[in-house]
Amino acid sequence: MRRIRIFDTTLRDGEQSPGASLNVSEKVVIAKQLDKLGVDIIEAGFPRTSQGDFEAVKLIAQEVRRPVICGLARTRDEDIDAAGQALESAENKRIHVFIATSALHMDKKLKMTPDEVIATAIRGVRRARRYTDDVEFSPEDCSRTDMDFMCRVCEAAIDAGATTVNIPDTVGYAVPQEIRQRISYLREKVPNISRAVISIHCHNDLGLAVANSLAAMEAGCDQIECTINGLGERAGNASLEEVVMAIWLRHENYMAETGINTREIWTTSRLVSDLTGIAVQRNKAIVGDNAFAHEAGIHQHGVISDRKTYEIILADDVGWKGEQLVIGKHSGKHVIEQTLKSRGYALNKDQLLEVTNRVKEAADRQKAITEEDVIAFANDILTTLTRDEQLVRLCELSVMTGNRFTPSATIKLAVGDREVLGTGTGIGPVDAAAHALQSIIHKELGPHLELKEYGLKAVTGGTDALAHAHIRFADDEGNSFRGEAINGDVILASVEAMVQGANRAVNFQKRKTPSEQGQQQTGER
Ligand code: KIV
Ligand code: ZN
Repeated sequence: MRRIRIFDTTLRDGEQSPGASLNVSEKVVIAKQLDKLGVDIIEAGFPRTSQGDFEAVKLIAQEVRRPVICGLARTRDEDIDAAGQALESAENKRIHVFIATSALHMDKKLKMTPDEVIATAIRGVRRARRYTDDVEFSPEDCSRTDMDFMCRVCEAAIDAGATTVNIPDTVGYAVPQEIRQRISYLREKVPNISRAVISIHCHNDLGLAVANSLAAMEAGCDQIECTINGLGERAGNASLEEVVMAIWLRHENYMAETGINTREIWTTSRLVSDLTGIAVQRNKAIVGDNAFAHEAGIHQHGVISDRKTYEIILADDVGWKGEQLVIGKHSGKHVIEQTLKSRGYALNKDQLLEVTNRVKEAADRQKAITEEDVIAFANDILTTLTRDEQLVRLCELSVMTGNRFTPSATIKLAVGDREVLGTGTGIGPVDAAAHALQSIIHKELGPHLELKEYGLKAVTGGTDALAHAHIRFADDEGNSFRGEAINGDVILASVEAMVQGANRAVNFQKRKTPSEQGQQQTGER
């Protein structure tokens, strides 16, 4: 059996998904779960892009010791040095250097000749080798790169010290047959190819990322780059769970296996979905809610006689935990800790105590508490902004609503050491409260925030359920800021989520240097 390496890039390419930003502690929690899942390499971030990414890679390198921890870098010295420094204390480290090689990218983006690109790639790989013997090289937009030029640049990178060459289908343009041909060509034409592992990195713009990754494996690729839930730039990357389960189920066909503990897949998927705020679509292969549900009578009948009639994978094989455990008032810290652990959350003592207190408090108010609520409390604690970051705090909220008049809201916020009052009206109490909050933020602190997304979820069906609210604000420059909160009161949960989003926006504005304040800087916070 060939052993296929699983390179997980949820924390790097996955985090580039619109709307999927994660803070440092969330990234560490996910990295620990990826370790448990058994991935071979964790691409933990792009250290040069932000202080947050640098810190996350550094902390993951310190705390996650078994897998190889990888940092992404362009061929620039400062990128490679940042990756090298962030990875300093890793047990096993890799620097992933990339430069674009398609004619379109070289001409329009890099404004470099092919020879300059090769020379730059060589310099980048050599510099990365000063920090580690494990260097990956990617010719970006490879699936639209001239095949002979791809071979030249890969040969040069291997000569310079690259130990993995990765073939990215950056824009999700390729189809399986082309990928197979490209990998075969690379293996045939690059004389030193046996000194490197060949890797594949596919995007899902045509919905072919998994098929293309498997085609590459058939042609001789030994590493597959993928993400949990298929997160990633635009339409996402190849989904780890789909790639892994295809190899697992059809290992005799592929004569290949991975090191993944498939029973950790469901937990990892839910953890990533909870922390990024990006829901898994119900009918998603392997991890969607419907993946193991049977609706049609004929299917149900078949499954009752023998599951294999309509199921190729058992729910247990991926560690699916469908049932909702209701946590009682007297459940105590131990049950809560077990619940969190089984869902991949390793909280410290203080955080655990805080979750327990919040569960008790909600139970005291006769709330029905489910496993999802406990997870939401944990997320709330993990995403809590530091005291310094809480530039705005909610002091008071009152709303008036009814069927005979316009809903209105009054909000009192603490802005620094001042208390500021704002009012608003809207089509409902949440809308009215949003307007009140937006007007205070704009008047007092500058950002003009527009509510782009608002969602509310109550796990149990009853009116005693806890409300989970999530929002997304956008500022005038297109930056977007998310906020989440859980509360027994629907309106309070909504407003607390908005206050968190507003704080993220104000902190972002504060961190910008004076020159950046005039420039367009888009991104997700
Ligand atoms: O899609 C891409 O080309 C990438 C590279 C950095 C590998 O993500
Ligand atoms: Zn990518």
